[in-house]
Amino acid sequence: MTTKEAIISILEENKGLYISGEDIGKNLNISRSAVSKVIKDLKENGYLIESINKKGHCIPCKSNTISKIEIKKNLINNHEIIIKDSVKSTNLEAKSHLLDECKHGSIIIANEQTNGRGRKGRVFYSPKDTGIYMSLILKPDLLLIHNPLKLTIATAVAVCNSIDTLCDVDTKIKWVNDIFLNNKKICGILTEANTDFETGSIEDIIIGIGLNFNTLNFPEDFSDIAGSIFSEKTTPINRNQLIAEIINNIMKLLKDLENPNILKFYKEKSFLLGKNISFYEKDKKIECTVLDINSEGNLVIKTKNGLKKILHSGEVNFNW
Ligand code: BTN
Repeated sequence: MTTKEAIISILEENKGLYISGEDIGKNLNISRSAVSKVIKDLKENGYLIESINKKGHCIPCKSNTISKIEIKKNLINNHEIIIKDSVKSTNLEAKSHLLDECKHGSIIIANEQTNGRGRKGRVFYSPKDTGIYMSLILKPDLLLIHNPLKLTIATAVAVCNSIDTLCDVDTKIKWVNDIFLNNKKICGILTEANTDFETGSIEDIIIGIGLNFNTLNFPEDFSDIAGSIFSEKTTPINRNQLIAEIINNIMKLLKDLENPNILKFYKEKSFLLGKNISFYEKDKKIECTVLDINSEGNLVIKTKNGLKKILHSGEVNFNW
C-alpha cells in the first residue's frame, strides 16, 4: 500500500472524524509535513477532504469520492483497478490498456467522461462526481461463451440485482441492456469485442457500464428519458459500495452463463414482456407485441399481421 492509499484508508475508516496530521504521521511513521503534502495532492485530485487548523483532516460522511481502497474493501476477488478523474471514455481507455497485457477482470473507472459512448454511436452523458462509468476487461478463453447475448444479459441481471439490493429500489430491464427506474433510463451497457483481424477470433471483451447514481440535472436532449438512482446530493450509500457489488455480481454470474436462473431473473425484470413495441426492418416500422424471451435471450414477438418472429438484436421502442 502506498502512503497515499494508507492515508485515505485511515481517513475513510474514521469517516466524519478529524484526525490530526501528527497522529496520521505517527501511525505511518512519516512526518506531519509529509502527511500535509499527500493530503494537498489528494485534494487536488478530487478527494473530498476537509482540514481544520489544530483539529486535523477528515473525509466527511457525505463523501462520494471514488476510491480504490473503498472498492477493494468490498470486493470478493482481486482485480486490477485503475481510477481516472476524467477520460474521454472508459471503454476507449480499456482498449488502449489492452496493449499493456492486462489481466482478466481488470477494471477502469472514471469520475467523468468527456465523450462517453453509447450504442449506435450515441453519447452517454457522463458528468463528474455523480455517475459510475466503468469498463471491465474480460479474456474470453476464461469464459465459456457460446452465445454473446448471454454475456450481455448476465451483465444486465448483475447490475439490476446490485442496484435493487443496495439501493432498495425495483429496477426494470429493457431488452437487451438498458436499465430503467420509474420509467427513466438510469443505466446503459455497451459491450465491445476486440478481435484479431487475421483470425477473426475474439481476443478481449470490454463491458462498459454507465450508471446515473445521483445526477440531478440532464441536458435537454436527455432529460425526457434519463433518470438517476438517487435524486438527492446526499445518498444513503456511496458509489464505491455499488461498484464493488456490481463487480462481485458480474464475476459470480460469468462463472456459469448457462445457469437458467439468469434468464429467469431477466424475464422477471423485463418490462417488455406483454407490451406493444415497434422496431425497424429495412426502414419499415413494424409494430408488434412481445410474447416471450426465449432460452437464448432473443425476443419472441407477434406482428400486427399475426406473424410470429424472433428478434436477435437491434433497437426496439415502446408504444407507451
Ligand atoms: C447505451 O446506453 O447505449 C450504452 C451506454 C454505455 C455507457 C458506458 S459508460 C462506461 C463505458 N464507456 C463508454 O464510453 N461507454 C460505456
